[in-house]
Amino acid sequence: MSDGHLFGRLAPQAPDALLSLIGLYRDDARATKLDLGVGVYRDATGATPVLRAVKAAEARLLTTQATKSYLGPEGDIGFVAGLQPIIFGAGATTPVFGVQTPGGTGALRLAADLIAAAKPGARIFMGTPTWPNHPQIFDVTGLTTVAYRYFDPATQAVRFDEMMSMLATGGAGDAVLLQACCHNPTGADLTLDQWRAVAEIVAARGLLPLIDLAYQGLGLGLEGDAAGMRLVLEAAPDALIAYSCDKNFGLYRERTGALYAMSDNAARLELAASNIKALARANWSMPPDHGAAVVRIILEDAALAADWRAELEEMRLRIVAVRQALVVAAPSLSALGHQHGMFAQLPVTPAQVATLREQHAVYMAGSGRINLAGLTPATIPAFATAYAACLKETSP
Ligand SMILES: Cc1ncc(COP(=O)(O)O)c(C=O)c1O
Repeated sequence: MSDGHLFGRLAPQAPDALLSLIGLYRDDARATKLDLGVGVYRDATGATPVLRAVKAAEARLLTTQATKSYLGPEGDIGFVAGLQPIIFGAGATTPVFGVQTPGGTGALRLAADLIAAAKPGARIFMGTPTWPNHPQIFDVTGLTTVAYRYFDPATQAVRFDEMMSMLATGGAGDAVLLQACCHNPTGADLTLDQWRAVAEIVAARGLLPLIDLAYQGLGLGLEGDAAGMRLVLEAAPDALIAYSCDKNFGLYRERTGALYAMSDNAARLELAASNIKALARANWSMPPDHGAAVVRIILEDAALAADWRAELEEMRLRIVAVRQALVVAAPSLSALGHQHGMFAQLPVTPAQVATLREQHAVYMAGSGRINLAGLTPATIPAFATAYAACLKETSP
């Protein structure tokens, strides 16, 4: 098709696999169908609710917002500052510069742009499997992805030795992507001892950590989910943290996130800050306001903040309860009881994923990733039965 016209020179791109799955699920007439594909939180009724504190803050915003005039490329400064004690800890003292971004995705894109601006084609170490948008973002920004195997679905274990020996090959000028908690797609997080070892190697090799913190509060709780990451931040001279409020505030389509740069050197932090602002300006000029204004209102109001924490804890405990009930119903999945967050990577082949969909109306990502929040006490037994039957039908 390359007839000289610009569109004709483009390479076709695969459609988003999860979006195709949504269509298949919608068109499935079976009453027992189960959607474990899409990665959003669902309550026990299957709904993805607007949080109580978000509703209250939205009502307040509607009556009090006096202007919709532009903010700067940093977005809502109060939002950026309000999140800092939650992310870095109440007593954190290392200087930080932050900007609001369109979701965690925008933060990751801005971080990748910054790394590429500092060193075009820089290497970034990335464990696999990972959230599929990670390699896409690194590819379009021209970074060089160095992949290593993070997780073994058969044993459900983190391949920590492999991770450490890969990181040992890095050096100053390289970056490393680290998911802080609730690893997507595996649910397999590092232990605190493993985080300590990662912190040591990051410092020893001079790697720049790019921390992706997209599910804070949904694994061990707000503090527990940040504890490992903070060990790395203490050890690294410079760091980037890409944050999403889209899961822990349930704001998904409002695209609410932030990027923070940290450095123990004032001149380097100033350089990072000026480049982040310039790149944000070139990417989106300034981020969408609504979600960040809502989060700021919640965090500035003690009662709303307490209610947000309480509802986040309800969501977390529901996910924990699903994990516990699932390992009772499906003992072969006992490892899922030690993992965190909404996701698990089942040890299934693409053919078994298709069998589960076609024969049992169980929908999951082609990789075998399931969203545990798609299960309820009522549907767990049916899922366990379907899973066991599929393994039996398809085992060689
Ligand atoms: C690991 C991880 N990082 C970042 C994001 C981006 O989140 P957002 O919706 O805020 O762009 C996601 C979203 O699914 C994710 O799973």
